[in-house]
Amino acid sequence: MSANQAKPADAGMAAFIRGIPKAELHLHIEGTLEPEMVFALARKHGVKLKYPSVAALREAYDFHNLQSFLDIYYEGANVLRDEDDFFAMTAAYVEKVHAQGVIHVEIFFDPQTHTDRGIPFETVLNGIRRGLDEAREKLGISSRLILCFLRHLSAAAAQRTLDQALSHKDAICAVGLDSSEVGHPPSTFSEVFRHAREAGFLTVAHAGEEGPPEYIYQALDDLKVSRIDHGVRSDRDPDLCRRLAAEGMPLTVCPLSNVKLAVFKRMEDHNLKRLLDMGLCVTVNSDDPAYFGGYILENFLEAQRALGLTRADITLLAGNSIKASFLPLADKKLWLDRIERYAASAA
Ligand code: ADE
Ligand code: ZN
Repeated sequence: MSANQAKPADAGMAAFIRGIPKAELHLHIEGTLEPEMVFALARKHGVKLKYPSVAALREAYDFHNLQSFLDIYYEGANVLRDEDDFFAMTAAYVEKVHAQGVIHVEIFFDPQTHTDRGIPFETVLNGIRRGLDEAREKLGISSRLILCFLRHLSAAAAQRTLDQALSHKDAICAVGLDSSEVGHPPSTFSEVFRHAREAGFLTVAHAGEEGPPEYIYQALDDLKVSRIDHGVRSDRDPDLCRRLAAEGMPLTVCPLSNVKLAVFKRMEDHNLKRLLDMGLCVTVNSDDPAYFGGYILENFLEAQRALGLTRADITLLAGNSIKASFLPLADKKLWLDRIERYAASAA
């Protein structure tokens, strides 16, 4: 290995990362649909796919920006037709991350991707919920659900989706904003988000993935979010970074996603460590793991390797994931104590 070639995480570090209790806060459930399941569901429902094989589909996962990914992501979601499909997808995800030390998940779902194809809102919600209920019973993983509005569609369409969610307030904890960012500023959705907050939902939003710092300001000031999803472009604005740090505003960062979608050319260029060192509440997440080459563990491992993260950094990131979650304070305290004891016993 030459001097400037990156080294893989050593076995001790990898075991430390796997074992530390952590929460995943930025995960699109439709982005966990592995090519094998796409093909199995296509067969089940008689859907004709553009790709001849699992391998050909996987090879198509060669993205150059967010839109090039979204085009293929929405096509993949087209094979989800009945409640069992949403259940199977969710069950497969929680089983994977259970083996990676995840103890709590906060999951995005995109109802409009399905309701616009004639799939009832309740079919989507009930299937995902059933998968999460089973995760709680069988694996001890707790969860929250976040309904995302597709920002390439109108505010009126988002409002209609919110209206559908109003009778499921027990099952959905927050609303978010995802899909094509540039040209679709958060402020477009100010009124829908106000209605959502008035109905008792928390709010989050994708901002500063490809979009400018201005979109992060809008998410904070107009949508009154509790977390910024991605937010990596905040580093172009020192005042914004100072504000995010002072407010303890979490950023749900997704390292592999950012490299796959060319937000950063190489993992070595990622600003995760710089943001962490500036005092921002950074968390590590997987975004769309079936498409980006890894689940939360692989995100931690790649970031650790490329950025030289220490055990103290990993412990901070795991603690941030709990602090930034929507868990009750008592649960946060319990998990933060466990993380502290885990790190101390591994030292
Ligand atoms: N939907 C699924 N993944 C997304 C991402 N990374 N950004 C915006 N919308 C998304
Ligand atoms: Zn995302």
